[in-house]
Amino acid sequence: MHNVRDKEVKDSPIRDKVIVITGASSGIGKAVSFALAAHKPKMVIVARRKKKLMQTAGSLKRMGLKVLPIVADVRDSEDRDKIIDLSISVFESIDVFINNAGLGKVNLFLEQPEREINELIETNVLSLIKLTQKATKVMKDQGYGHIINLSSSLAMLPTYPFAVYTATKAAVKVFSDCIREELEGYGIKVSTVLPGPYGTEFNQVANIGKASFKVYDVIKLAQEIVNLILKPKENLILPKKFGPLIWFTNLSKKFKKTVTSGIAAQIMAGKLETDKKLASEKEIFEAEIKITT
Ligand SMILES: NC(=O)c1ccc[n+]([C@@H]2O[C@H](COP(=O)([O-])OP(=O)(O)OC[C@H]3O[C@@H](n4cnc5c(N)ncnc54)[C@H](OP(=O)(O)O)[C@@H]3O)[C@@H](O)[C@H]2O)c1
Repeated sequence: MHNVRDKEVKDSPIRDKVIVITGASSGIGKAVSFALAAHKPKMVIVARRKKKLMQTAGSLKRMGLKVLPIVADVRDSEDRDKIIDLSISVFESIDVFINNAGLGKVNLFLEQPEREINELIETNVLSLIKLTQKATKVMKDQGYGHIINLSSSLAMLPTYPFAVYTATKAAVKVFSDCIREELEGYGIKVSTVLPGPYGTEFNQVANIGKASFKVYDVIKLAQEIVNLILKPKENLILPKKFGPLIWFTNLSKKFKKTVTSGIAAQIMAGKLETDKKLASEKEIFEAEIKITT
């Protein structure tokens, strides 16, 4: 991830542009931050875990970048104000705003606790919409800007053990499509990224553990997101082969069911494995407590 510093891009069009990325303490957000380093933008990176965020900030600073790390929870209204206000007071503009912070929680819908439903909708949808509104008000005054929203390929391949998560990502896709037309008159572009499965902390947070399905290289995804900043387009579906897969599945109900139930079976296998592991860890913990008391 760090070797990009060797290949500084001369006269990059995004040199000194201000790029805000939420969820930059791990995974896609962190990989995009490193992939951008060669272009020398001014970076605002956001996440809740201070230690991890500061590590990313430290590495980017050592690569010669101007970095503003902001420890914030995107669900918190004051934190959302802080993200926008600090970006403007330190760097004076917001050229690109990447709504990447998000999470999944695998569960059968009938078994999903309300707190998971709330967390998914608050983080993936409400916070994203509210941050987009704040960022686009700044961009409207500037007369330009680019919003990049992280959806998921599951938004086009609805899969049952991920119902609430998938619904949030479908909301992100539809929201982005709706605001695009309204905002283009102000010089603001809106893109949606729809990734397939990539190797990040996502599966662990989603309770799928080490899922049995193939995960793709997050560094390649990050590079494509940098290309999207350089040459904006409406939708970025990755890996590329997922584009035709989604297209074909929408031609036939039967094929779509085969594909989505295949994905569902793999996700459920990962979840069952994680549940088993957690149950056995709990048993060991309880046995240890019994021995020591
Ligand atoms: N990996 C995949 O397969 C995949 C596929 C499709 C879509 N996506 C989407 O891509 C985005 C990034 O996910 P990832 O794969 O990189 O997962 P990840 O490694 O778990 O990263 C998620 C990032 O979001 C941050 N975050 C989560 N909740 C937050 C909150 N309330 N406030 C601020 N930051 C928060 C986390 O930081 P802190 O915990 O430090 O706050 C972390 O930096 C998500 O929106 C996800 O839905 C991922």
